[in-house]
Amino acid sequence: MSTPSICYLNGEFLPLENAQVSVLDRGFIFGDGIYEVIPVYGTNPFRLKEHLQRLDNSLKAVRMVNPLSDAQWEDMLTKLISQNSNGDQSVYMQITRGVAKRDHAFPANTKATVFAMSSPLPSSSKTLASEGVTAITLDDIRWRYCNIKSIALLPNILLRQQALDNKAVEAILVREGMVTEGAASNVFIVKNGVIKTPVKSECLLPGITRDLIVELAVKNKLPCEETEISEAELLAADEIWLSSSIKEILPVTRLNDKTVADGKPGKVWQQMQTIFQDYKQRLRDGIEVE
Ligand code: PDD
Repeated sequence: MSTPSICYLNGEFLPLENAQVSVLDRGFIFGDGIYEVIPVYGTNPFRLKEHLQRLDNSLKAVRMVNPLSDAQWEDMLTKLISQNSNGDQSVYMQITRGVAKRDHAFPANTKATVFAMSSPLPSSSKTLASEGVTAITLDDIRWRYCNIKSIALLPNILLRQQALDNKAVEAILVREGMVTEGAASNVFIVKNGVIKTPVKSECLLPGITRDLIVELAVKNKLPCEETEISEAELLAADEIWLSSSIKEILPVTRLNDKTVADGKPGKVWQQMQTIFQDYKQRLRDGIEVE
């Protein structure tokens, strides 16, 4: 059995198995955090200044304030290393935006969660180094599979916050000139009476609300197309809607610095809203809704 590992959590040193974080921590709920791994040879961290600089860069990039000064990081690491000194180590450090009610928007007045643990550093394999290893090439899919309802929502959070900073409720996302979805919603436009929403692909989450809107449109004989929508078409739309389980169907009446059409929720939205609310009421009433 190896000696019990001591970790650091929010200012305290304690056995790793006793360290606990709330399930509402934004690291757990959203993947809203950053990390570093520092190898330690003897008791000396490798390239500490560079690791702390990259940590600070990552924090800045996700708009978090560094919770500790470099001197405080060094002091914490020295204590952590001395309590785990049993050969070379690797120190894992993680900072999340803290514990808050689930909401994509940055929480107000929440303290960051700061965690660090040490593990023995495996000695590098002499056989692997002398014989070499096999690798394969793969498509770089990182940050790309938006159809997976993944908890790794850091990009969505940063986009939603940017929308809020600009006094907007949602960010409508455009990839290579084509509309994909909102930061936490799907997007519809109406042009010349036709309801349109982007085709399902890896670029968007197949929203349950989105699918119901398409289904209700068909059932109620409202012209509806699942089709590619360019940014230009979005900007020239007669109506724009957002859909999600939380937002239901929200008309967008202002986009960037312009009103959408006459700046009022559109006629087709009103029709769909009535149909949707009726569907909800039938569900509430326990009437079978196929
Ligand atoms: N989000 N696209 C994204 C990126 C979303 O996060 C969501 C919903 C949707 C709409 O899906 P649905 O209609 O199934 O709710 C589309 C939820 C509400 C959230 O993260 O809170």
